[in-house]
Amino acid sequence: MNVYDSARMADVLAPLGFVATDEADDADMVILNTCHIREKAAEKVLSELGRLRHLKVAREKDGGKMILAVAGCVAQAEGAEIVARAPYVDMVFGPQTYHRLPEMVAQASRSAGAVLDTDFPSQPKFDHLPSQTRVEGCSAFLTVQEGCDKFCTFCVVPYTRGAEYSRPAADVVAEARRLAAAGAREITLLGQNVNCYHGAVPGGGEWGLGRLIRELAEIDGLERIRYTTSYPADMDDELIAAHGEVPQLMPFLHLPVQSGSDRVLAAMNRRHDAGAYRRIVDRLRAARSDLALSSDFIVGFPGESDADFEETLALVREVGFIQAYSFKYSPRPGTPAAALAEQVPDPVKVERLATLQGLLNEQQLAFNQSCVGRVMPVLLDRPGKFPGQLVGRSPYMQPVHTDGSNDLFGAVVDLRVEAGYANSLSGVLLDDTGRRMRKSA
Ligand code: 5AD
Ligand code: SF4
Repeated sequence: MNVYDSARMADVLAPLGFVATDEADDADMVILNTCHIREKAAEKVLSELGRLRHLKVAREKDGGKMILAVAGCVAQAEGAEIVARAPYVDMVFGPQTYHRLPEMVAQASRSAGAVLDTDFPSQPKFDHLPSQTRVEGCSAFLTVQEGCDKFCTFCVVPYTRGAEYSRPAADVVAEARRLAAAGAREITLLGQNVNCYHGAVPGGGEWGLGRLIRELAEIDGLERIRYTTSYPADMDDELIAAHGEVPQLMPFLHLPVQSGSDRVLAAMNRRHDAGAYRRIVDRLRAARSDLALSSDFIVGFPGESDADFEETLALVREVGFIQAYSFKYSPRPGTPAAALAEQVPDPVKVERLATLQGLLNEQQLAFNQSCVGRVMPVLLDRPGKFPGQLVGRSPYMQPVHTDGSNDLFGAVVDLRVEAGYANSLSGVLLDDTGRRMRKSA
């Protein structure tokens, strides 16, 4: 979502004459778009600011100017602290106010001292953002939902992103059409709780995510639809059915479970237990037999015992994940779990994380190797490291390397998988008759 937000900030700033650059050295403005989800992500901000300060000072010595801004969830949560600890920062703003960037830039250029904007405006920022019309490559993100009302006891998102909000369905469909017209072959619908989407429709009523996906599947040129991140208890019948009935909806789903222990899930205030998660997965697989899953896990949540952790391992073995993110529990300021007495010592967290990641990596490698020999449609979306090499995504989100000419960019091609590695596959192009294509010179 931060990638999407950063692109939208660039859209908002374009009329002011700003263009994006990868180099901070000679930039007129540097925006750090930050993440507060774990301490490690938040810590990076201050060290990065220290580094950027030198660039800003060097530029001022040369008679130039650099606006330094902190955006995103660290800005939202720790805005005042950032201003106090890094007084050389010019602008600090949260994830819900970046449509106001032009005013902030004007204000920062006029006056000394930081501009701080961490409001939760009553009118959503989407109503003020310019239309998204640029697509880099052939895969685009589209935010349909934001914020969260679930209040898992470990999580800062309800406090930093604010209350749950769904964009009206017509706005989403219009944006998806524009993206497809601009060359997007794949769209990933985004939201912190994307599957609780309930967008208003003209004439009254609401669409859930399943209904929205069916509508998006009608758009010409849009070959692939994905969505992330989902909350297990919000996986409704219509969305599950869409997995079986909408061919553009890819058979890969990121569905965070966090833990396999009912005791821990209850303490996390998750509204599902491990059994409910297993049943949702069964229903999804009944709708789409080749559905592959990814998940998020937290180890060392306060009070997690060895037996609780074993239940997480058991769930992983039983469900099977082709990819996953796993983290040590990180106490976050202001969240209920941070105040719990039974914090798990770090060495225990380290050990559990290594065990869990060992198992998850085994499953990922086994799945990648099981793909060898299969023919898969791959959306070629990037150049590879070497000349003549292309990289794409399989339906299951695995990166796939192949040899091919650049005119294949943006195409979905059939590849026969020849090797499966820890994090990727390699394959060869097949011609229309299913034979291997000869390498071009
Ligand atoms: N500590 C560790 N991991 C966390 N996550 C969210 N909050 C925390 C925390 N306090 C993880 C969850 C979530 C993912 C985005 O980040 O697994 O699904
Ligand atoms: Fe955070 Fe997701 Fe829980 Fe919302 S549902 S509080 S975003 S972990």
